[in-house]
Amino acid sequence: MNFPSPFLWGCATSAYQIEGSPLADGAGPSIWQRYSRTPGRILGGDTGDVACDHYRRMKEDVALMKQLGLTAYRFSIAWGRVLPEGRGRVNAAGLDFYSRLVDELLAAGIQPMATLYHWDLPQALDDRGGWLNPDVANWFADYATIVYQALDDRVPLWATLNEPWVVADGGYMHGVLAPGHRSANEAAVAAHNLMRSHAEGVKAYRAVGKNKIGLVVNIEPKHLGPNASEADRHAARLADAYMNRQYLDPALLGTYPEELREVFGESWPDWPAAEVEALKVPIDFLGLNYYTRAVVQADAKAWPVPASPVRQKDGIYTETGWELHPQSLADTLVWMHERYGGLPLYVTENGAAFYDPPHAVNGQVDDPLRVHYLRTHIEAVGQAMQRGADVRGYFAWSFLDNLEWSLGFSKRFGLVHVNFETLERTPKASARFYSQVIQTQGAAL
Ligand code: NOJ
Repeated sequence: MNFPSPFLWGCATSAYQIEGSPLADGAGPSIWQRYSRTPGRILGGDTGDVACDHYRRMKEDVALMKQLGLTAYRFSIAWGRVLPEGRGRVNAAGLDFYSRLVDELLAAGIQPMATLYHWDLPQALDDRGGWLNPDVANWFADYATIVYQALDDRVPLWATLNEPWVVADGGYMHGVLAPGHRSANEAAVAAHNLMRSHAEGVKAYRAVGKNKIGLVVNIEPKHLGPNASEADRHAARLADAYMNRQYLDPALLGTYPEELREVFGESWPDWPAAEVEALKVPIDFLGLNYYTRAVVQADAKAWPVPASPVRQKDGIYTETGWELHPQSLADTLVWMHERYGGLPLYVTENGAAFYDPPHAVNGQVDDPLRVHYLRTHIEAVGQAMQRGADVRGYFAWSFLDNLEWSLGFSKRFGLVHVNFETLERTPKASARFYSQVIQTQGAAL
């Protein structure tokens, strides 16, 4: 398969998951600093204190990206490095880290894509209500403006938020991610304020930025088994509205899916239509984080959506329990293309955790299942393009094994293995495979 040129071939990471040194050079703590110190929250008591030590090894990491032939790299900026209290005083040393990273990438011929929010809200803002406080949209726009002004001369692609659904669902509905709340009403309010922040962040960009800005969402298609009942169909529709349309619909169509009233029930705030319409602000691209699909069935005990997943007898599952389903990546790209106005699309994350040993063996890490995952999913991207989706690039998750949030370091998603005792990096077989794909513009698939 031959991909058109230019097509971005990258890897993605996020600040808290790889950087380490979270309080270095005057940075303020994020909600993950506190969450990771709350007993029982992160598997094995892991924290991002050291992570991959990327903050100190940035140059050698970029050199490795260059060696692998990446043409793009998606990273996130830690809000609290730039603004230790989340607003007000700027910490020049924190901003400088990202400026040096961008310079290093450009010198290596790698295009940066910067995400402004990948889950590490400054603790000082959480102390004021965080995503529940309506002022957060202004805090976010002010922070974003500072970063645009410092880096837009060198960063061609920006994303406001990474996976707002996970922020609201994990952080405020189920309490399995920072800040760990458990309330349907809070989840609805946080979701709304996330989208208000996205809108304000884009407007702020138009005032000072000259390149491209978009939104990154995770989509997981909801499928039905062969003997689905009417109740199953209804449950799947609700699940799809909650996870897949709750954010894209307001951002691009100016409405919330009707089904959300039923999902949230009494907890759904009645947002005035004009306020929802105001969430629709033109953007330049959509980023899709795709990992899996879900076959669902009605389940009255499940909350907030009365649906639960059905394990597929013949399915291949990853270490995080996600079914391999490359066809759904192609279908999702085509769905986004058709439903949301043909915007340029990037696959901003795609990858899999499979078991890899803690130490490389004879300097090698063989990960045939990850190679298979990458091959079939990159092929699916090609298929989506043949079906008309305007896909401009693909980013594998992740460049390095890293802190998988509440699962700690137990799940390895990297194309490059990290020995968490020595911090030594070893490109896995999947990294070598990906290099070949890049070098041949897809022909090596
Ligand atoms: C999506 C998130 O953006 C990323 O932070 C996470 O590590 C991967 N999915 C894998 O779960």
